[in-house]
Amino acid sequence: MQNYILSIDQGTTSSRAILFNLEGQPVATEQQSFTQHYPHNGWVEHDPQDIWQTVLDCSRQVMANQQIDPEQVIAIGITNQRETTLVWDRHTGEPVYRAIVWQDRRTTAYCEALQSETVNELIAAKTGLLLDPYFSATKIRWILDQVPGAAAKAAAGDLLFGTVDSFLLWRLTGGAVHRTDATNASRTMLYNIHQHCWDEELLSLFDIPAAMLPEVMDSSADFGRTAPEIFGKQIPVYGIAGDQQAALFGHACFDTGMAKSTYGTGCFLMLNTGDKALRSENRLLTTIAYQLNGKATYAIEGSIFMAGATMQWIVEGLKLLRHAGESEAMVKDVPLDHGVFLVPSFTGLGAPYWDPNARGAILGLTRDSGISSIVAAALQSVGYQTKDLQKAMERDGIRPNVLRVDGGMVKNNWVLSFLADILGAVVERPQITETTALGVAYLAGLQAGIYQSTEQLASMWHCERRFQPSICAEQRNHLYHQWQHAVAKVRL
Ligand code: G3P
Repeated sequence: MQNYILSIDQGTTSSRAILFNLEGQPVATEQQSFTQHYPHNGWVEHDPQDIWQTVLDCSRQVMANQQIDPEQVIAIGITNQRETTLVWDRHTGEPVYRAIVWQDRRTTAYCEALQSETVNELIAAKTGLLLDPYFSATKIRWILDQVPGAAAKAAAGDLLFGTVDSFLLWRLTGGAVHRTDATNASRTMLYNIHQHCWDEELLSLFDIPAAMLPEVMDSSADFGRTAPEIFGKQIPVYGIAGDQQAALFGHACFDTGMAKSTYGTGCFLMLNTGDKALRSENRLLTTIAYQLNGKATYAIEGSIFMAGATMQWIVEGLKLLRHAGESEAMVKDVPLDHGVFLVPSFTGLGAPYWDPNARGAILGLTRDSGISSIVAAALQSVGYQTKDLQKAMERDGIRPNVLRVDGGMVKNNWVLSFLADILGAVVERPQITETTALGVAYLAGLQAGIYQSTEQLASMWHCERRFQPSICAEQRNHLYHQWQHAVAKVRL
């Protein structure tokens, strides 16, 4: 009888359940999207029940479709949209408010009011993060302040906080387990990534009771068992990691200096810095990449808000294409230096600029610019923004020579050729592009004893295609210089 690992990938726009066989091959997937709530400008919320129900339905369905008995599922891994914040009642399990999503900007004013050199330094030194609404801490504070009675209940120990992994674990275990892993904890702005504990000084800065917080575990650990009524059998949860960290693990970026970039809605570039928590001087984040056997491996991360979302705008907003898959054929004859630049700062710019006020623009149009130039510029914007992150990393003294990539956009060969060209680095596309789900399956498999070591996992990673840079340094510098010029214009 075949055995499997079930990966639950709870993302920003959809939940997925993917079954992997023990050789690490995906055998079946179920996916369900759910409603995004935008109650006010800059607010983004998810209904916790949608998060839970879509995860439960996909997990049950993927087994049923393949006629796989839950007995055959030897472990579960959970990977998730990070930072998104839930607070629920310890006794009833009911959330006191909707999940406040990582993209939500409602605590901008609170963050601005808190800004000072001392506070910024305190946060950067302890958490590796920047004081920004992106992370969980100010979202928890908002819930405690705004939900009637919440602060008193939290002080009395009746409320629990969790990122999405923690909430799912709580529900899967029938309310028995309140835990998270170190990667998710490292995105809350409350976790000391050097001392490996919730930080008392930060808890008092944000006035958050310690009793609300989950126990922090390794990413590969015995997190608990599903309640019998969930799948008809108790299945152990053996792996948890935030989705970008899981992707790094799935790419087998285990050595210092190895890097991955995931091109989904946005783009997250992460570079393994080993046992050193390298502090960026260029507004990149320091974060825990994974934690095994009590030992943390660190990464440096740059986040871009618009990657696949730019193509979604080209398709749904401008209606220049019927679907993004048409873009490769359309741009194949467009020269790289066609002169049109699209800066997709629709909601501001992420790393390394962190400029919330920049807005999008298309520059360099001439009479012979057509749809193909605009589509090419949209695709190139992803490469140029990755170059911005590479440059910031270089200024911090690190340079990834090889970049492993995943996410919807990496099917496009033209995009990856350009990425290799503009970075002047090799870009590798793996055979299995379900990298996030694979990463957490690996973490669960390590705890289950199916895999013995990261060396073994590294030997299971296979490259499908390697893209080599093909332009000279002079052309690369010229193109990038023009991009910088375009970015400067949208920031005026
Ligand atoms: O930090 C946010 C990130 O984890 C979201 O990832 O794939 O759900 O957009 P995704």
